[in-house]
Amino acid sequence: MKNTPFKLGNVQLKNRVLYAPLAGCSDYPFRQMSSRFRPAITYCEMIKMDALIRNDSHTFRLMDFEASMHPIGAQLCGSKPKLGAPTARIAEDLGFDVIDLNCGCPVDKVTKDGSGSGMLKNPDLIGEMLSNMINAVKIPVTVKIRAGWDEQSINAPLITQIAERAGAKAITIHGRTRAQGYRGPANWDYIKACKQVAKEIQVIGNGDVFDADAALRMFAHTNCDAVLVSRGTLGRPWIVEDILRAMEGLPSIQRTPLDIRSALLDHFHLIIGYRNEKQSLLDFRRVGCWYLKQLEGVKELRIALNKSTSTAEVMQLIERFPWHDVALSQSLVFAESEA
Ligand SMILES: Cc1cc2nc3c(=O)[nH]c(=O)nc-3n(C[C@H](O)[C@H](O)[C@H](O)COP(=O)(O)O)c2cc1C
Repeated sequence: MKNTPFKLGNVQLKNRVLYAPLAGCSDYPFRQMSSRFRPAITYCEMIKMDALIRNDSHTFRLMDFEASMHPIGAQLCGSKPKLGAPTARIAEDLGFDVIDLNCGCPVDKVTKDGSGSGMLKNPDLIGEMLSNMINAVKIPVTVKIRAGWDEQSINAPLITQIAERAGAKAITIHGRTRAQGYRGPANWDYIKACKQVAKEIQVIGNGDVFDADAALRMFAHTNCDAVLVSRGTLGRPWIVEDILRAMEGLPSIQRTPLDIRSALLDHFHLIIGYRNEKQSLLDFRRVGCWYLKQLEGVKELRIALNKSTSTAEVMQLIERFPWHDVALSQSLVFAESEA
């Protein structure tokens, strides 16, 4: 796959590496950090249609963005077709470039009303919801799914055809079933099967892309049009750069512990600029983990970070830490999952 622009309807994206919506992670500071490295698009965290239509202020806050984050996508989650049009219009009016429909979230409290991956049980409802959204807005509408509800009901190719008929511009397939959660590897054959039945609709592959090599393998294995990187973006906002270089056959950039330290500090500064002191401190612990797990020799720093009582103390700890003793970790474990 060549590093060429990627078209979603009337929106032209600069490349084929997208950063995923990640509930509890792809917040404002995360997207500020990510957009410095110019992925094709970043997404806000998943938004519930019900909350949006209720004018819930917390929900609107999740959709905050600044000009530098364009192109930016909103991701809506719901199972009531009548909410499709008005909520898509709200997202368009807020200035989003793309709207994605979430049909992949596996969390019980989301699926219990039939939304998220609950929608996989009712492919026609996905078609109806998409049609309502698409007819209401001018910006492209896309959908993100898992391979199926469980191994016995794989229906991603069928949903690809339904989404295409409804007029969706792209479909992202996470190559795991809902029943699977995050156990075992993503099965990229499901993505390949969707690409084989797709005519106009763009197929975006998702699942287990943690480095440039995996992205190249996903393109080659599935023939997908683009890749969506999710957990691989946590603590590694530059992963798009790595993938694009590999696509162009350029040598990889080895990130050093000092590069990671510098990105960590930058990310923390962005958090302080957006959150109050108490929330910043909580976010530091969560975000700090993403960066520090790539390193060996930082155990003391991690413990101190978790005990610290002010953001100033954390910044001082990082600045004074003996970074010359730190090495890159040989193995990365991605324990994060949708809570
Ligand atoms: C913490 C967390 C939050 C997530 N939130 C969302 C979300 O809001 N919307 C969505 O479509 N997928 C969400 N996902 C799923 C990911 O986008 C992605 O489909 C999945 O992690 C597989 O890709 P990966 O192996 O590259 O991480 C989330 C995943 C994690 C780990």
